[in-house]
Amino acid sequence: MKELKSSTEFKHRIETDQDIQIILLSVRSMLNKFPFSDTDKQSIHVCSSELIRNVLKHSGSIGEFHSYFLKDLCIIIRVIDKGKGIENVEEILNGDNLKHSSSLGLGLLGSSRLMDELLINTSEKGTEIVAMKWVTPLISLSK
Ligand SMILES: Nc1ncnc2c1ncn2[C@@H]1O[C@H](COP(=O)(O)OP(=O)(O)OP(=O)(O)O)[C@@H](O)[C@H]1O
Ligand SMILES: [Mg+2]
Repeated sequence: MKELKSSTEFKHRIETDQDIQIILLSVRSMLNKFPFSDTDKQSIHVCSSELIRNVLKHSGSIGEFHSYFLKDLCIIIRVIDKGKGIENVEEILNGDNLKHSSSLGLGLLGSSRLMDELLINTSEKGTEIVAMKWVTPLISLSK
């Protein structure tokens, strides 16, 4: 259990376009210190980018980004806002909303495919999304 204490955390508010740049720079430099494959690094970066852009584009609120790296185990990305919530979240994750939308709509669906887990807790009081990727290619039973 002692080794599990080795962790790296980063937190930042999501309020302006400048915050997006700051968060993504920090994510990139953090990922370079940890043993993810280049493909996994790219996936984590894209997911972080999509989730924080969604807060500014859709929530109507400011938000917060939180990344937590647990040494040699996994990275957890948590993005929260106190905005209006995501309507039809199941449709979005099934790709059904793309039929009647002009948006590419790949943000949430794409992120759920890129990461090992993507959990969404949303209501009219706000949204919390937690995404996770294992360092080693463990098989996830939920996929
Ligand atoms: N944080 C959020 N708060 C409220 N609604 C959200 C939030 N994130 C996503 N949504 C809703 O979910 C929909 C799907 O999001 P997704 O990121 O998949 O696509 P998009 O942002 O519309 O398009 P793209 O990401 O491809 O530019 C959005 O159109 C929006 O209605
Ligand atoms: Mg989006």
